[in-house]
Amino acid sequence: MKKPIKIAIAGLGTVGAGVLRLLNEHAALLARRSGRPMVVAAVSARKRRKDRGVSLDDIPWYDDAVTMAAEAPVDVLVELIGGSEGVAKRACEAAIAGGKHVVTANKALLALHGTALAQAAEAAGVTLAYEAAVAGGIPIVKMLREGLAANGFNRVYGILNGTCNYILTAMREHGCEFSEALAEAARLGYAEADPSLDIDGIDSAHKLAILASLAFGCEVNFPAVHIEGIRHVSLTDIRFAEELGYRIKLLGIAALTNGTLEQRVHPCMVPVTAPVAHVEGVFNAVVAHGDFVDTIMQEGRGSGGGPTASAVVADLVDIARGQRVCPFSVPAKDLQRIPPSPMADHKGAYYIRLMVLDRPGVFADVATILRDHQVSMEAILQRGRAPGEPVPVVMTVHETREAGMTRVLEAIAALEAVVEVPRMIRIEPF
Ligand SMILES: NC(=O)c1ccc[n+]([C@@H]2O[C@H](COP(=O)([O-])OP(=O)(O)OC[C@H]3O[C@@H](n4cnc5c(N)ncnc54)[C@H](OP(=O)(O)O)[C@@H]3O)[C@@H](O)[C@H]2O)c1
Repeated sequence: MKKPIKIAIAGLGTVGAGVLRLLNEHAALLARRSGRPMVVAAVSARKRRKDRGVSLDDIPWYDDAVTMAAEAPVDVLVELIGGSEGVAKRACEAAIAGGKHVVTANKALLALHGTALAQAAEAAGVTLAYEAAVAGGIPIVKMLREGLAANGFNRVYGILNGTCNYILTAMREHGCEFSEALAEAARLGYAEADPSLDIDGIDSAHKLAILASLAFGCEVNFPAVHIEGIRHVSLTDIRFAEELGYRIKLLGIAALTNGTLEQRVHPCMVPVTAPVAHVEGVFNAVVAHGDFVDTIMQEGRGSGGGPTASAVVADLVDIARGQRVCPFSVPAKDLQRIPPSPMADHKGAYYIRLMVLDRPGVFADVATILRDHQVSMEAILQRGRAPGEPVPVVMTVHETREAGMTRVLEAIAALEAVVEVPRMIRIEPF
């Protein structure tokens, strides 16, 4: 057997401790599969004395992760601190500069600095691996970059955040509002103390920008992602969606249209017949349309110590075996700059919900606005009657441009009988 591969781990939280546990439990299996033993030869975190449920005896400890990355006598840095700037970034840069491979689960870092880090890694002749950064335990990076390397893609999308998917599932199944479902997610450990990165769609957008780069061979362009979260999704919308034959999911969607790249994260109504509609709870799923393979969907756990450690250690096995691939499928210098497609140019069908005073003439006013903007209505629903009181009215409209839809919503909101800001959810016709 070859000499051991030596590993430094920066960050010993949920994922870091999971990686240590996996490396301990599967030491023999991993040595057989990768042809050499894996040895953790340095660790770093903030609090040295914290109980992490795994033994750190005999492993050299570094108070400073950047010093460890630069100086520890190891082959690989595993960065599991998190955050797009600061220590995590500097540790990765120091490791690459020192000729060490880097494995990271840090989607924020890759979404903002992925192209530059890939360039640095390629120039230094080391690997930058990040299977755990997108959809946790689902091996989607490997699938797009290796298993589907023969395909051109025009679209990749998915449920990329387990917290949001849990909340939307709980709202539908338990009949509760967003705030109650969020509190339940927090109680069960599925939501952070500050859940905004998840529920405002930013975490999904980080992952989408990485997926788009992999699928389309372009530079990672997180600032170009259109991002909306799920705070405004109400139980009323979820119930109307069901009645219309849809489920509401937070999706990240990247598509190439006419030489431009559309990247968007927002709640979507998906037909209940679509496989992605049945990905529930904390599960994630990614769907890719390859021109030769057709449609492929992978589903699994997108977070948690076990699934995420599984992805991190798979990257370590590749490195130990000596497998080398460009981080984003093509050499970083050849990654394209694809012009972003503005959201105003998006074309799709829409669901609109209004709260209107129940009185004669309102439907006619709304119909006139749609006609004036050349938007064609598909269906309209009103449930319950309460003369003089607000009632929900729901419409779906056929494919139209987002810019036109925005003007329609502004005009409808200005009607005297409309008592709340109209809610709009895009319909995806999978
Ligand atoms: N949790 C998941 O399910 C999951 C899934 C996919 C990807 N990820 C990604 O994996 C990474 C780690 O996530 P996590 O959930 O494991 O986070 P976490 O539980 O908060 O752990 C973060 C670790 O980083 C350490 N740390 C913080 N600041 C540090 C510093 N300045 N120097 C050295 N160590 C420092 C902390 O030390 P102390 O323990 O001493 O405080 C802690 O051990 C993030 O990039 C995250 O986005 C997580």
